[in-house]
Amino acid sequence: MKEAVVKAKIIFLALPTPPGEDGSADLSYILSVAKELGKIITDYKVIVDKSTVPVGTAEKVRVAMLENVKEEFFDVVSNPEFLREGFAVDDFLKPDRVVVGTTSEKAKKLMDELYRPYVRSGNPIIFMDEKSAELTKYAANAFLATKITFMNEIANLCEKLGADVDMVRTGIGSDDRIGKRFLFPGIGYGGSCFPKDVQALAQSASQVGYDFKILDAVMAVNEKQKSSLVPKIKAYYKNDIKGRHFALWGLAFKPDTDDIREAPALYIIAELLAAGAKVTAYDPEAMENVKKQLGDKIGYAGDQYEALKGADALLIATEWSLFRTPDFEKVASLLKAKVIFDGRNLYGLAQVKESGFTYYSIGREIIRA
Ligand SMILES: NC(=O)c1ccc[n+]([C@@H]2O[C@H](COP(=O)([O-])OP(=O)(O)OC[C@H]3O[C@@H](n4cnc5c(N)ncnc54)[C@H](O)[C@@H]3O)[C@@H](O)[C@H]2O)c1
Repeated sequence: MKEAVVKAKIIFLALPTPPGEDGSADLSYILSVAKELGKIITDYKVIVDKSTVPVGTAEKVRVAMLENVKEEFFDVVSNPEFLREGFAVDDFLKPDRVVVGTTSEKAKKLMDELYRPYVRSGNPIIFMDEKSAELTKYAANAFLATKITFMNEIANLCEKLGADVDMVRTGIGSDDRIGKRFLFPGIGYGGSCFPKDVQALAQSASQVGYDFKILDAVMAVNEKQKSSLVPKIKAYYKNDIKGRHFALWGLAFKPDTDDIREAPALYIIAELLAAGAKVTAYDPEAMENVKKQLGDKIGYAGDQYEALKGADALLIATEWSLFRTPDFEKVASLLKAKVIFDGRNLYGLAQVKESGFTYYSIGREIIRA
């Protein structure tokens, strides 16, 4: 640590901020590193909070450092990260915007110099105070989680009313004020960021006496949505899935990552196993991580088709692109029955109807073979 810090002008803290027991962000990693930094620094440095941290953390880091170093030797800057897992390097090199929270002119100048080469196409570096920068990150993630959840609720309503969520999505997405992205319904958001950040923002709000009602609703709806395929499965098998064998395509919380933190697939697996069913899964990247967590409680297949052998139905939990265009004849020949429960709406209804499948998806008509 000393070797890296002594040479650097700008020091990034990209430490974990997992949820603490009450849901608020656990700052222990950040604050302990800040104290250590204070012991090492002997000339001016900019300390950058890159982790997602609650409002007031830049000040806490400053106080932790002051235990060991004088204030003229450093500034603490909030510089939240907006990259998407799976596109991390691209997003970092070509950011839509860079948010920098600092009230120090000296730190501002250095941060501007650092980021200028990455925004040559004109995307903005937005300077603001530390607290606003800290809140910007939470507001962005909470908004996106709310957008996804809103659409999931519209999908659930479509199922009750007989409307088609794909049509509704297309209908509203063409309005510029709404936008087409993040409107795809499914079995909820997961991952390392949305769940913990929504929870941490709700906790921050409640700590200052603000009842942020939308966030509570988002968390409650998403929790239910993650295993929303299970009631459909149980209803199809007349509430008895004991001994049934399910093939599961997708374990990661989203495609192009091996991250299984808060992955809907894990919630589905837990409920199926609790009801006495058997699961054989395939995921292109995430199987090792699941093996570490679940061991031999489920089976793991070498490819997507091997998972289907002798299974009663296929379940889909992650929208990996290789699951989008399967050989339906092969799927039919390997499954015991032609039944698919799709949590990510990967297939067109006409397509599955033509292939003779019973097909359950999200917010769309049930296709019965
Ligand atoms: N993953 C994302 O897509 C993403 C996007 C934006 C923001 N963030 C935020 O970035 C932060 C880090 O997230 P992550 O997903 O990269 O977490 P991570 O757990 O993958 O990485 C954290 C890193 O910190 C290291 N570390 C832990 N303790 C340390 C210590 N005492 N000294 C030095 N290194 C230490 C770990 O070894 C690990 O490499 C979080 O606050 C997260 O909310 C993550």
